[in-house]
Amino acid sequence: MKKFETKAIHVGVQKDKSYNSVITPIYPTSTFFFDELGVNKGYDYTRSHNPTRAALEENLAALEGGERAWATATGMAAETTLLFLLKNGDHLIAGHDIYGGTYRLFANIVPRMGIEVSFIDMRHPENVKKAIRPNTRAIWIETPSNPLLNIVDIEAIVTLAKNKKILTIADNTYMSPYFQRPFESGVDIVLHSTTKYINGHSDVVGGVVIVNKDRGDLGDRINYLFNALGTACSPFDAWLVLRGVKTLPQRMEAHQRGALKVAQFLQDHPSVKKVYYSGLPSHPQRELIKKQMKGFGGMLAFEIDSKKVDICHFFKKLQYFSLAESLGGVESLIEQPWGMSHASMTETARREAGLSPELIRVSVGIENPEDLIEDLKNGLKS
Ligand SMILES: Cc1ncc(COP(=O)(O)O)c(C=O)c1O
Repeated sequence: MKKFETKAIHVGVQKDKSYNSVITPIYPTSTFFFDELGVNKGYDYTRSHNPTRAALEENLAALEGGERAWATATGMAAETTLLFLLKNGDHLIAGHDIYGGTYRLFANIVPRMGIEVSFIDMRHPENVKKAIRPNTRAIWIETPSNPLLNIVDIEAIVTLAKNKKILTIADNTYMSPYFQRPFESGVDIVLHSTTKYINGHSDVVGGVVIVNKDRGDLGDRINYLFNALGTACSPFDAWLVLRGVKTLPQRMEAHQRGALKVAQFLQDHPSVKKVYYSGLPSHPQRELIKKQMKGFGGMLAFEIDSKKVDICHFFKKLQYFSLAESLGGVESLIEQPWGMSHASMTETARREAGLSPELIRVSVGIENPEDLIEDLKNGLKS
C-alpha cells in the first residue's frame, strides 16, 4: 500500500473483530482491566494510550512519512508538549510572522520557563544563521506562514541546525501532508493543528506531533512528556479526525482549485491592493515553492482598499464566507488577522510581521468557486 489516497483510508484502521465493523470503534473508556497482575492487552489508561487514538496516530505518522505520532487535544497542546523538550537557559528561534496563538505562547509564556525566544524573518536562511547562539536548542519552522504565506527554506534551515545538533520542528498545518512533507527535507518533528485540514469539517479541535524516523530517543522523550503532561485528545475526537482524514487528498485538491480561482479574481479587482497566494506566478518565492511543496493549498490573504470599500460592510455582505477564525474546513471562512487570529500580538509585532488592518485572510472551502467569486464580487461593491 503505497499511494497517499489509499493510506489515508486504510492505515491504522483497526477492524473490530467482535462484530466485524469496518470502521474503527470508539473506545470511550478511561481505563482497561488487567487479565491478571502484569498482563493486559496493551492498554491500561486512556491518558497514555487508547485504541481509537492509536489508529489515528498510526494513520497520521504514515501520511507524513514519520515513525510515531501522538494525537493531542488541540494544536496548542501539541506545541506545549514539544516546548517541554526545552529547559531553563535554552534558546528558541521562530519566525516573526507565525500563527498568533503560537506567537502568544512563545512571547508571553515560554520566557517564564527561562527560555529565550528570537522572532526573526525566516524567509532568509542567513537571518537564522545569525540568530543561532551557543544555547539554541530548537528552530520552529512555520511554512507557509500564517497569514502572509511567506515560505521558509526547510532544507536550508535543517542544514544549519544539523551541524549544531539543534532540533527542527515544522508546523505543517497550512499545507497538510498531502501538499508538503517536511520529513523529506530532514526536520526532526512535524506538528499539526488537526482542527484544520486534517479533520477538515470544523467540528473538532485537535493536534498531532509526529517524529521522524531514526531520531534516537526523541520519540521516547515525547512519549514520556505526552503522558506526564496529559495533552492527549479524547477517543471521540480521535475518531472524528480519523473519519475526516480519509478524504484529505480529495478535499485538498478542491481547496486548491477554488483558491487559485479566487486569488485570480481578487488580483484583478480594483478594490484589492495586493493578493498573497502561493499558487500565483507573482509570488516572490516561486522557485522555493516548486522545490519544497507539492501544491499550494487553500489559504490566501489580500489587502482591501479601505478607501474604496468599508471592511465591516464587506464582511456583512458575504453570504458563503463566515466571518470566523480557524481554517481548513469544507466551508469557506474569512477573517481580519489584525483584530482576530493575530490580535494577541502587540501592534509593533503585527506591523513588523507585515500585518495591517486592511489585511483579510481567506480559507477557501470546497464550494463551487463560481459561487464564492460571485459572493466576493458582491461584498466588494462599494
Ligand atoms: C498554523 C497553526 N498552528 C497551530 C494552531 C493552533 O491550533 P489549535 O487551534 O488547534 O490549538 C493554529 C490555529 O489556528 C494554526 O493556524
